Amino acid sequence: MDRSLALPLPPEPTLIERAAAALDFGIRSGADAAGTGTGTTGSGSRGPTARPGLLDLDRTVLQAAGVLTPDRLRTRLAEEVRLIKRLLLARLSQNGGPAGKALMLTSALPGEGKTWLAANLAISIANERDLGVVLVDADLARPSLLRLLGVEAPDLPGLSSLLEDAALDAGSCVRDTSIPGLRLLPPGPAHALSTELLTSQRMADLIAEIGRRFPDHVLIFDTAPVLATTLPAALFDHMAEVLFVVEANATRGRDVTESLELLGDPAKVSLVLNKCRHVIGERGAGSRYGYDYESYYGGPRDGRT
Ligand SMILES: Nc1ncnc2c1ncn2[C@@H]1O[C@H](COP(=O)(O)OP(=O)(O)OP(=O)(O)O)[C@@H](O)[C@H]1O
Ligand SMILES: [Mg+2]
Repeated sequence: MDRSLALPLPPEPTLIERAAAALDFGIRSGADAAGTGTGTTGSGSRGPTARPGLLDLDRTVLQAAGVLTPDRLRTRLAEEVRLIKRLLLARLSQNGGPAGKALMLTSALPGEGKTWLAANLAISIANERDLGVVLVDADLARPSLLRLLGVEAPDLPGLSSLLEDAALDAGSCVRDTSIPGLRLLPPGPAHALSTELLTSQRMADLIAEIGRRFPDHVLIFDTAPVLATTLPAALFDHMAEVLFVVEANATRGRDVTESLELLGDPAKVSLVLNKCRHVIGERGAGSRYGYDYESYYGGPRDGRT
């Protein structure tokens, strides 16, 4: 394993950020930002422009869970997620650009922050001018992505529906959201053969189909822990990149090693250290960590969103 990243606990918002959030200063709500409610993306070039069933993400729920919102993109958390995003987009850009590529988040054990980081990463990528995101809840064992995003929509057709029924159109399950550029694919109904569905050729076909149906979109799969289920290992071969989340001061090294052995080709795995106390830009260990990160990857910090 040759890569690692660090992500801190999000800091408290500054007084100005809190005031801006409270006053809704210069901030369009997700629904407003989505224009007429048709799910049109900001760029107008991210795929179909009029789709039914827009999912309204609850900004209060997002903020309470420490998930980025369109009005919180200048926070330290946003900057940390941006660093991870830039690395991943650079890696996904190899061999023909990031569009249509699939990225999965997993970890050794439950609760390490996969779903939380998948949501933050997806919202950050949705802010790219030229890219959208299809965020997939592929934790078919214990899906929680929609709940984290404040979406009350149980029993939606989703990934398992598409995998089971090859005649089903991906566009009928991928939902627009009130965040421009962000689309969601719910998990779909529980299925006794989830692992077999994920390893099937249909899964590979589905990734290609979503790529065609939603051009200029990256696919982000939130999955289950490797040591608890076989779902991430089943998805691994379909993925262009894998982000392996490690909870700082919690996950044991041997659990990480064992998980990585169960997954496969380490060349496409990047580690991210979550919930660590070090933050980039602070003096002391945090600062050193940040600089290590930057110099290790050799890329300038470009300040783009
Ligand atoms: N960096 C972070 N700062 C603050 N809270 C975090 C952070 N990362 C994760 N959390 C919180 O920790 C809890 C567990 O996170 P999450 O549900 O994303 O874990 P998970 O790895 O997806 O778990 P599971 O394996 O059960 O799906 C959630 O309440 C989440 O909001
Ligand atoms: Mg999860």
